Amino acid sequence: MKVDVLLGLQWGDEGKGKITDVLTPEYDIIARFQGGPNAGHTLEFDGGKHVLHTIPSGIFHPDKINVIGNGVIIDPYILSVEIKKLRAKNVAPEKNLLISKRAHLIIPTHRLLDFVYETTKGASKIGSTLKGIGPSYTDKVSRSGLRMGNTSMPDFKNQYNVLKESHNRIIRSYGFVPEELSIDGMPLAEYEKLWFESLIYLKDIPLIDSELFINESILKGKKILAEGAQGSMLDIDFGTYPFVTSSNTITAGVCSGLGISPDKVGKVFGVFKAYCTRVGSGPFPSELLDENGDKLRIKGNEFGSTTGRPRRCGWIDIPALKYSIMLNGVTDLVMMKADVLDELTEIGVCTQYKIQGNLFDFPLFETLSKDMEPQVAMLKGWNQPISDFTAWTELPDAFKDYISYLESSFNLPVSVISLGPGRTQTIIRKKDR
Ligand code: GDP
Ligand code: IMO
Ligand code: MG
Repeated sequence: MKVDVLLGLQWGDEGKGKITDVLTPEYDIIARFQGGPNAGHTLEFDGGKHVLHTIPSGIFHPDKINVIGNGVIIDPYILSVEIKKLRAKNVAPEKNLLISKRAHLIIPTHRLLDFVYETTKGASKIGSTLKGIGPSYTDKVSRSGLRMGNTSMPDFKNQYNVLKESHNRIIRSYGFVPEELSIDGMPLAEYEKLWFESLIYLKDIPLIDSELFINESILKGKKILAEGAQGSMLDIDFGTYPFVTSSNTITAGVCSGLGISPDKVGKVFGVFKAYCTRVGSGPFPSELLDENGDKLRIKGNEFGSTTGRPRRCGWIDIPALKYSIMLNGVTDLVMMKADVLDELTEIGVCTQYKIQGNLFDFPLFETLSKDMEPQVAMLKGWNQPISDFTAWTELPDAFKDYISYLESSFNLPVSVISLGPGRTQTIIRKKDR
């Protein structure tokens, strides 16, 4: 069996968590391959709402295994809070969650460094989630990081102190005093205490060589879904650098983040919103700074699942999507949140970018230039509520025309359509094709 992939094609928050949960019954294993607690994946079913950060979105299905792969970075405190919340909902992660020994740790001073770097950047800050993502991946690449497997070594505390002290030296060199800074409202010492207690709390979650587990499972014919975090436009190589996250969020990241060879990749589900959002700083070509943007934010409840920050909103961006589809080898498109556009008589679509009089079909390096204008075409809206529809045939013609427009722009099928946050508000279009 191959490993199918599900990932975001825009700037994150496309609805990956919801769709992973919806598709989980078709799989045996759900695995995260990159990112960390910067992610916030929302699932809604049976009247409840759940937000996952480090744990794959298959966790609510007790018969499915969930793997946190080697490419993920873990803050044990944040993970333990997540696990406590799941246990309060009668989920037993010790039975169906596995963690890679090679997954890197986010230690408390990584979070302080994130804060120090962001504060020092001033107006040019990335708008990071302040979860320590950049500093932890930096230590991984500079070969000074610590991994989950290190936590059971007898001299782990010493390894920790060496890394912590190296961070503190940097923090002091920026003019800050580590002991005077806080993390989530707690002084460093208090967060550190909880962090170490969390390592003990996590002891009943098995630490494994996940690359062996995944490859053995492939050989046994198990069906695996790799769940992405963030989105392709936040990819460290191809996103709107430097306003990106610090991992490869694209399909290529699945190979390094789970330890599988490229020929093992099967279907690639590319998830996108029927419009577009971004949280944090950086270029957003189709951003709407007018009342249409406000309408999308309010109707779409576009406030961050991890930080609560208002998300920037705009029209769907065809050049950015084409680029993401190319980078990821998308085979199936998944369109989310179309219901948010219900009240609009006209829907905008960014078809190209104009830079210094020239038109561009892709977000090239020059896209970062400030005088870029999006070229917007207006399509007819369906202008009626669609959240309660359960079959493709029931959907209004203007909605079907919107889907056809996108399918012909990308030359790919839109296989899954989400019409509301709930698990059941999903149309899987196998049957009507
Ligand atoms: P993720 O990070 O990609 O998993 O997405 P988030 O969970 O951060 O953000 C998506 C938000 O949209 C969540 O609040 C979901 O509950 C919600 N959502 C998902 N699909 C739909 C949909 O089709 N319609 C509406 N209105 N909301 C949706
Ligand atoms: P999910 O998985 C949306 C953004 C941050 C910031 C930039 C860098 O829920 O889609 P980082 O903390 O990674 O150093 O922040 O990336 N960002 C996200 N935006 N959804 C996410 O995850 C994000 N994870 C990071 O807002 O602009
Ligand atoms: Mg999110």
